[in-house]
Amino acid sequence: MEERRVSLLELIAFPKSQVKVMVMDALVFLVLVAVLPSITVVESRKAGILDSLEYSALSCRGHSASLTEFGGVGDGTTLNTKAFQAAIDHLSQYASDGGSQLYVPPGRWLTGSFNLTSHFTLFLDKDAVLLASQDEGDWAVIDPLPSYGRGRDTEGGRFISLIFGTNLTDVIITGDNGTIDGQGAPWWEKFHKGQLNYTRPYLIEIMHSQNIQISNLVLVNSPSWHVHPVYCSNVLVQGLTILAPVTVPNTDGINPDSCTNTRIEDCYIVSGDDCVAVKSGWDEYGIAYGMPTKQLLIRRLTCISPFSAVIALGSEMSGGIQDVRAEDIVAINSESGVRIKTAVGRGGYVKDIYVRRMTMKTMKWAFWMTGNYGSHPDKNYDPNAVPLIQNINYRDIIADNVTMAARLEGISGDPFTGICISNVTIGLAKKAKKVPWTCTDVAGISSGVTPKPCDQLTDQGSEMMTACTFPEDSLPIDNVQVQTCTCTRKHL
Ligand SMILES: *[C@@H]1O[C@H](CO)[C@@H](O)[C@H](O)[C@H]1NC(C)=O
Ligand SMILES: *[C@@H]1O[C@H](CO)[C@@H](O)[C@H](O)[C@H]1NC(C)=O
Ligand SMILES: *[C@@H]1O[C@H](CO)[C@@H](O)[C@H](O)[C@H]1NC(C)=O
Ligand SMILES: *[C@@H]1O[C@H](CO)[C@@H](O)[C@H](O)[C@H]1NC(C)=O
Ligand SMILES: *[C@@H]1O[C@H](CO)[C@@H](O)[C@H](O)[C@H]1NC(C)=O
Ligand SMILES: *[C@@H]1O[C@H](CO)[C@@H](O)[C@H](O)[C@H]1NC(C)=O
Repeated sequence: MEERRVSLLELIAFPKSQVKVMVMDALVFLVLVAVLPSITVVESRKAGILDSLEYSALSCRGHSASLTEFGGVGDGTTLNTKAFQAAIDHLSQYASDGGSQLYVPPGRWLTGSFNLTSHFTLFLDKDAVLLASQDEGDWAVIDPLPSYGRGRDTEGGRFISLIFGTNLTDVIITGDNGTIDGQGAPWWEKFHKGQLNYTRPYLIEIMHSQNIQISNLVLVNSPSWHVHPVYCSNVLVQGLTILAPVTVPNTDGINPDSCTNTRIEDCYIVSGDDCVAVKSGWDEYGIAYGMPTKQLLIRRLTCISPFSAVIALGSEMSGGIQDVRAEDIVAINSESGVRIKTAVGRGGYVKDIYVRRMTMKTMKWAFWMTGNYGSHPDKNYDPNAVPLIQNINYRDIIADNVTMAARLEGISGDPFTGICISNVTIGLAKKAKKVPWTCTDVAGISSGVTPKPCDQLTDQGSEMMTACTFPEDSLPIDNVQVQTCTCTRKHL
């Protein structure tokens, strides 16, 4: 335990002064973990001018400011892009002097996109609502991601995300369940009508960065994906409520993309697309960039996604996806559970995937793997670049009211292997299909599964109910420690 913590601290390049406060004794750590899911809010009025809020974070800050000090107006109609950017530009001077936090007071804060800085916390009051501008002029156009080669909606560039950061270290976006509203309706309409000149913006995107925390927020109605860490390491996502209408396009919840060491926990997501979508680049661009998503932990996720997956692996997985652990997942009224999506031309791999303790209610498929997803960035993909899908483990799952137990479709000449399904009970819906399992180009084992799986998953007998492994060791991100910080709010 001790050794592992030291190596994590080496791995996380916090400045020395902050390492000192991070290394707390085990007792304090346990206490903090116990209070983590419900952020403690202490309101201690001092002379009626200052309140202080307590919150859990990877690092606390030496300097604070309120958005109102930079001309912010929370009336729902004044545009605050300049106030946000001026505040953050000003606070960036404290990066090497204890860091800084920006407090967003109660109010409705209309804003265009703004950029974050290092050693910085954006803290939303519980009654603060950030409203994303619906005017395209408030969104810069930036280059496509190198691992995608183009925007996902259109060729060429893409609108920058509402909250954007690149090449940063130690960034926290949190609040006491304050809200960020993407006001996505006009963007969804333009997407449907083919009127987009560039790819739609995301709500939060952090690129090329380390030591990121996004927690205790309500995110609603993003124009497209809600949370997109890409080319990052050491990412902590906790306590997010993400809500979008289930019928709108590509409003994924959380998309870890070419990231290492990520922990997503205690999130509730209702979405028009996948609740969590794990990615790593698209066809020849993703293969060339070669940056996998690995060491990903997802726990205590509740998802409603009637037309998509609870957790999708792909379809963009060309840089590889490895060592994903998902546990204590609740799926309600969703199309499928943990789904692998890939295609010829993707290359890359999806391997060492571990899922346990999942409860599903009202599903089209409990298990779904697709080797013919298609969807290529352009015609230049390599038809010989076939993906490797291997060592996929599902255990301790109860599903009810399921239309089809499984549809497992590998690739002809490139079978998906090492699939293990054990201790799974699937209750079929009244109108279920006659053949509950369809399997092609897959191989693996099963044990203690009802209804009886296809023959490609060789039955080991019910005494092998624990056949499918779930790793015993913990990932470095699981040992990361949070501390209690305070944020002073000034009433101006
Ligand atoms: C934010 O960062 C992006 C990408 O680096 C850049 O294009 C944009 O101009 C920046 N915005 C501001 C307001 O500095
Ligand atoms: C950000 O980091 C990436 C990856 O290390 C690098 O290629 C890029 O040049 C950096 N960008 C800036 C603006 O420093
Ligand atoms: C924040 O929202 C979550 C989910 O609705 C809830 O469980 C939690 O208690 C809320 N926290 C606070 C401090 O209101
Ligand atoms: C897209 O570009 C065209 C041509 O430049 C322009 O007329 C149109 O207004 C743009 N669409 C939007 C939604 O901005
Ligand atoms: C079972 O699923 C069907 C959709 O397939 C749904 O209409 C029905 O309400 C569900 N029944 C229960 C008891 O949840
Ligand atoms: C099978 O899964 C259930 C939960 O679905 C769990 O309670 C039980 O302990 C598991 N059995 C074994 C042998 O692991």
